[in-house]
Amino acid sequence: MANVVVVGAQWGDEGKGKIVDWLSSRADVIARFQGGHNAGHTLVVDGKVYKLHALPSGVVRGGKLSVIGNGVVLDPWHLVKEIATVREQGVTISPETLMIAENTPLILPIHGELDRAREEAASKGTKIGTTGRGIGPAYEDKVGRRSIRVADLADDATLEARVDRALQHHDPLRKGLGIEAVDRDALITQLKEIAQDILPYAAPVWKVLNEKRKAGKRILFEGAQGALLDIDFGTYPFVTSSNVIAGQAATGVGIGPGSIDYVLGIVKAYTTRVGEGPFPTELLDAEGKPDADGQRLGERGHEFGTTTGRQRRCGWFDAALVRQTCATSGIKGICLTKLDVLDGFEKLKICVGYELDGDRLDYLPTAADQQARCTPIYEEIDGWSESTEGARSWNDLPANAIKYVRRVEELIECPVALLSTSPERDDTILVTDPFED
Ligand code: IMP
Repeated sequence: MANVVVVGAQWGDEGKGKIVDWLSSRADVIARFQGGHNAGHTLVVDGKVYKLHALPSGVVRGGKLSVIGNGVVLDPWHLVKEIATVREQGVTISPETLMIAENTPLILPIHGELDRAREEAASKGTKIGTTGRGIGPAYEDKVGRRSIRVADLADDATLEARVDRALQHHDPLRKGLGIEAVDRDALITQLKEIAQDILPYAAPVWKVLNEKRKAGKRILFEGAQGALLDIDFGTYPFVTSSNVIAGQAATGVGIGPGSIDYVLGIVKAYTTRVGEGPFPTELLDAEGKPDADGQRLGERGHEFGTTTGRQRRCGWFDAALVRQTCATSGIKGICLTKLDVLDGFEKLKICVGYELDGDRLDYLPTAADQQARCTPIYEEIDGWSESTEGARSWNDLPANAIKYVRRVEELIECPVALLSTSPERDDTILVTDPFED
């Protein structure tokens, strides 16, 4: 019985929602292990569209246990609203179907304020382009040992002491940014009120998951963002504040690394990114605006963010970067998505490495100045004029599309386990079932 981790292998927005939904229909437990409500997962189930940010995708399917692990940072006010929204859509959520790890750090309103104030104050070139949801400041408080965690909501004295500790740090910081000091009593009142809504879901998730595992239940670990936004292995500092790579699945819920049997990387057939930071294959014109190919990818691929609505930057497939993320996440197979967006291009380009100061590199170097000087080395491939949308078998694909997929596999040194050919669940070509591998 396999447990599967799903991670984005680029900068997020690879189309994880559909695949996670398909896999979750066959899992017993679906666990989020990092990130927060900066994520946006769109699910289409029986014609109904669900937009989830904090809740694991499993909630929309009956009979599953959904888990928010300790690796997540949780905005309790957002969660309560999200639960209300999906309930209105007919989804049942109860402490039997949703558990939140007691050691999950909370995102407070002051974290969002700080996130946005810093972004506004940032000089050119230093803005991260965050989602403004307070993710970074909440993780800073976690490692700074001044978080308020879910379990702290259960005891008034502990809660007040935790708030005081956090404010010792935050008030001077806010003063420096020209924001008024926090209203301590109002914050404590807000927390005590929300505690009643959150505490019923609090549980020792590590224990529950270890028991489930021993009982032979299937666990699906649902990643958010993408490996190039990883705090250690991403394009730092233009990253999110959590570990996104697959190893985090174990730490983010409290289950050993041996519990992970299969890592599925979700990979878009081209590349997109939201927010600032390096993007070697970005398709720009001389004025720094999307060029004709970049615009075409964005329009055909509907490349607008689920969480912020921002237009995504678009570029050719970067095999060097995906080879890197396949390695750092231990990806066993990929799901290639949105191949149909490439339909109709006469020629396609794939980045196979970089040129830096006359040398050829097969990976993106870490130093920011070197990254900026890297120029992509492209391989050109013939495109196809036929439609690949909705293909359900290899026979439905034009020969050049198959060649493209095969070349991607060779270059990233990882096989295609699934090929997704439209947002519809059944428009998928299955090569390897991650749960059965
Ligand atoms: P933060 O996670 O809000 O701190 O934002 C840091 C960076 O991660 C920014 O470039 C965001 O655009 C990016 N980011 C955060 N969440 C997502 C996501 O779910 N998809 C794509 N990019 C994301």
